[in-house]
Amino acid sequence: MYRVLLRPILFRLGGGDAETAHERTLHLLALLSRSRPLYRTLELLTTIRDQRLSRTVFGVQFPNPVGLAAGMDKDGVALPAWAALGFGFVEVGTVTHLPQPGNPRPRLFRLPTHEALINRMGFNNAGAAALAHRLASLQPAPVPVGVSIGKSKVTPLEHAIDDYCASFRVLFPYAAYVAINVSSPNTPGLRQLQDADHLRALLAALQRVNTELGRTHSRGPLPLLVKIAPDLSEPALDELLTVCADHAVAGIIATNTTISRHGLAGADPALVVETGGLSGRPLTLRARQLVQYVARATGGRLPIIGVGGIHSPDDALRMFEAGAALIQLYTGLVYHGPLLPRRINHALLSYRKGAA
Ligand SMILES: Cc1cc2nc3c(=O)[nH]c(=O)nc-3n(C[C@H](O)[C@H](O)[C@H](O)COP(=O)(O)O)c2cc1C
Repeated sequence: MYRVLLRPILFRLGGGDAETAHERTLHLLALLSRSRPLYRTLELLTTIRDQRLSRTVFGVQFPNPVGLAAGMDKDGVALPAWAALGFGFVEVGTVTHLPQPGNPRPRLFRLPTHEALINRMGFNNAGAAALAHRLASLQPAPVPVGVSIGKSKVTPLEHAIDDYCASFRVLFPYAAYVAINVSSPNTPGLRQLQDADHLRALLAALQRVNTELGRTHSRGPLPLLVKIAPDLSEPALDELLTVCADHAVAGIIATNTTISRHGLAGADPALVVETGGLSGRPLTLRARQLVQYVARATGGRLPIIGVGGIHSPDDALRMFEAGAALIQLYTGLVYHGPLLPRRINHALLSYRKGAA
């Protein structure tokens, strides 16, 4: 139904431009979530409420383990709608300390034959303070809201720590967890923050602020998660995991988009050469392998949010089998539609029954 009817309409909303279609869809969702009857109808169609789906991970309780990945709703404009679509949590952002326009358009490209996207958005966002303001003005969300923070483009790498800490301070009161994005390929130099020395300094500073704010707000420190790139080598990943363990990181989000172009054989060559991060079907296997690697390397003790190329209930089950405690969707939602979280949750329940 979605692929035959709704997807062609949504894809055409932007007159052929993927980002305009995305913006209009977000706008529609935002409008929809303002109408109580529409919101309730959507919720009835898409949400599965079942205690067996709920889980507590890094101290946060999730009604189900299927989340919306960062970047889909950077400024949280359609926030209430995501819970009505059956997601068990939402990660807003990535936001930066300073508002910024991102890279020039076009910067988002669809490769439908490969169920993939290439993007070089470059953290277009209204800034951390604007997101904090929006979150403060909303009713508390019915599902946990994680906040992803990154570095402002104009901030030089040597001042990155101040930039992250400034965003962290304003968003602290509104986040169930904070994702530290050091893996987007679209901000020059950002991925260098995954290197052990940079990451050590960044995490140490963020945890200092975390302890201080936890006391001020009488809620204790927030879970800090690190989002990693799928392009890391094993030695680099091992070092990163050691640094994360040394700094009480609560979990790893694996993975961000890839700069590799594997899995695009036969795709339009003009699109394949577009600069940016690749997501979707070509990332499925790599993301799962990375999750499995992290799970083994940490003896299953560090919670992992598995993300990358989850387009079906089967992909989701395999991601859990690889060691993910929670999963997130982005490109799969674009190609397979809003019932994907429901289908995955349904499969999780059937799988449990089969296993019992
Ligand atoms: C258009 C677009 C924008 C994205 N923006 C962000 C972002 O701001 N922060 C982030 O951590 N990840 C961002 N991502 C990466 C996704 O959160 C996700 O990690 C990645 O796309 C792999 O999952 P998928 O294959 O399900 O899309 C973005 C992805 C896309 C396609």
